[in-house]
Amino acid sequence: MKKQTITNPFPVYEQEEELAQQDQNLSNCAREAVTRAYADYSKFQVGAAILLANGEIITGNNQENAVYPAGLCAERTTAFYASSRFPGVPFKKIAISAINPTEALTSPVVPCGSCRQVLSEYENRFNSPIKVILGAQSGDIWELASVADLLPLGFHAGFLPEK
Ligand code: THU
Repeated sequence: MKKQTITNPFPVYEQEEELAQQDQNLSNCAREAVTRAYADYSKFQVGAAILLANGEIITGNNQENAVYPAGLCAERTTAFYASSRFPGVPFKKIAISAINPTEALTSPVVPCGSCRQVLSEYENRFNSPIKVILGAQSGDIWELASVADLLPLGFHAGFLPEK
């Protein structure tokens, strides 16, 4: 039996000022987007900001629903909106932030499995890594060089039969 290892060391920033200026700006956009979330059921507000290869920044947030599974996370709301506004334009970076009104978050928010899968589709489609910047209202910021670092061994179109 052989063993394979998955290790993805990534930078942890204690101060936002340590980030590149463009990344600070994108983080701020995500933090602002949090405040526009529609999260009346869970109260957990999440915001995302995507920097596109054409320089546009698209923001979005979670949108909940009385039929709970019909709601959508911030990351997918934002990715689908970005792709529908600017079809064919690669994503360069995504910043994500959140507020838990009942208890301050002690670590950055991380995308759920479905959002990782959706983001990896855009990464694979354009064969271009999407940097992921994860934060909360304050505290450490985590930076992943690509969505693949968040979703190792991910399923992609290459597994499907040729068209
Ligand atoms: N949520 C997001 O929008 N993104 C995440 O990364 C984690 C969870 C949303 C989904 C739901 O509206 C609420 O947070 C609680 O799960």
